[in-house]
Amino acid sequence: MADAQINRRILLVSRPQGEASVSNFKLVETPLAPLADGEVRVRNHYLSLDPYMRGRMDDAKSYAAPQPLNEVMIGGTAGVVTESRNPAFKAGDSVVGMLGWQEYGTSDGRGLNKVDASRVPLSAYLGVLGMPSVTAWYGLNGIIEPKAGETVVVSAASGAVGSVVGQLAKAAGCRAVGIAGGAEKCRYVVETLGFDTCVDYKAGKLREDLEAAMPGGIDGYFENVGGEVLNAVLPRMNAFGRIAVCGMISGYDGKPLPMDQPRLILTQRLKVQGFIVYEHLDIWPRALGELGERVATKKLHFRESIAQGLENAPEAFLGLLHGKNFGKQLVKLV
Ligand SMILES: NC(=O)c1ccc[n+]([C@@H]2O[C@H](COP(=O)([O-])OP(=O)(O)OC[C@H]3O[C@@H](n4cnc5c(N)ncnc54)[C@H](OP(=O)(O)O)[C@@H]3O)[C@@H](O)[C@H]2O)c1
Repeated sequence: MADAQINRRILLVSRPQGEASVSNFKLVETPLAPLADGEVRVRNHYLSLDPYMRGRMDDAKSYAAPQPLNEVMIGGTAGVVTESRNPAFKAGDSVVGMLGWQEYGTSDGRGLNKVDASRVPLSAYLGVLGMPSVTAWYGLNGIIEPKAGETVVVSAASGAVGSVVGQLAKAAGCRAVGIAGGAEKCRYVVETLGFDTCVDYKAGKLREDLEAAMPGGIDGYFENVGGEVLNAVLPRMNAFGRIAVCGMISGYDGKPLPMDQPRLILTQRLKVQGFIVYEHLDIWPRALGELGERVATKKLHFRESIAQGLENAPEAFLGLLHGKNFGKQLVKLV
C-alpha cells in the first residue's frame, strides 16, 4: 500500500499572555486519513488571515467560542477539490470554506461553497468578493445609511474592509475620508481608491489633521481600530451622526482601549452600533451581487498582501495586527 499523504498543519498550542507571538503556534505533519462516505478533500491554495483570529486565541467571553488548544488554527480558505465522496462536489471544483491553517482540508461539505475562479482570481473570494467586503457593505448600508453630500470617515482605510467602505461611500455620493497609518497607505487611499482625502494617524497631529480634513464634521464613522483614533474622531461627530462599530484592532493584542469622552454620544445624539457580519446572512447574496458587479466593471479596486508558504502564516498574522499588511492579508500555499 502507498504511504499516506502528509498534511502540514498549524496548531494553536498556547494562549498569549499580553501580545501574541509565533511561539503560540506549532507546525505539525499528520498523515491524511482516507475519505469517508460524504467527505470532500480540498487542497487549500490560500489562507485568509483576519484580525478576529486574535480574539479567538484568548479564552475570554466573546460572541464566539475560543479556538481550542492543540487544534488547527481557525480560518477562511480558498482551494481546489482533489478528491470527493460527496455528490455535490467533484475533483477540480474551486471552493471556499473554513478549513483552517493547513495544506489539505477534509469536509463533509457543510460550509463549503463552490466559486467561479475562471473570471476572477480565487484569492478574491477571501477579500473583495468575500467576508471583508460584505462587512463593509453591511456596516455602511445597514448602520451608517449614507446620504449624498454627507461625510463618511473610515479607519484602517487601506485594508480589506476599510478600502471597500470608502469606495462604496463615494459611489453613494458622499465625501469619503480615510484614516490610515503612513504616507504610502494614505497616497494609495486617495490616488488609487479615489477617497477625497486621507489622514495619516502616525504623523503626530491627528486631531488637527482630522479638523483640516473635514471642517464640516463627520456624519458617518466606520470604526475599525478604536483607541486614540476613536478618541480623536468622536469630538468631530455631527449631531445625529452614526457610528458602525466593526472592529477595534488597536485593542486586540493585549492593550486596553480607553474611551475619552463617551458623553459625546449623548450630547451629539449619536447612533453607535456594533455588528458581526455572520449574524446578517440574509444580506450576503445582495451584497455579493453588488460587489461582484463593481469588481467586474472595475469600479471597486482592491489590493492583496501575500505571504508565501504555510510556515509563514503566524508571522504574517502578527504583522497584520501591527499594520504590516497593505491590503487583504493572505497566505499562498500553492
Ligand atoms: N464586525 C465584523 O463582523 C468584522 C468582520 C471583518 C472584519 N472586522 C474588523 O474590521 C477591521 C479591519 O479588518 P480587515 O480584515 O480589513 O483588516 P485590514 O484593515 O486589512 O488590516 C488591519 C489594519 O488595521 C490597522 N491597525 C493595526 N493595528 C492598529 C493600531 N494599533 N491602531 C490603528 N490601526 C491599526 C493597520 O492599518 P494601518 O497601517 O492603516 O494602521 C492594519 O493594516 C478589524 O478591526 C476587524 O476586526 C469586523
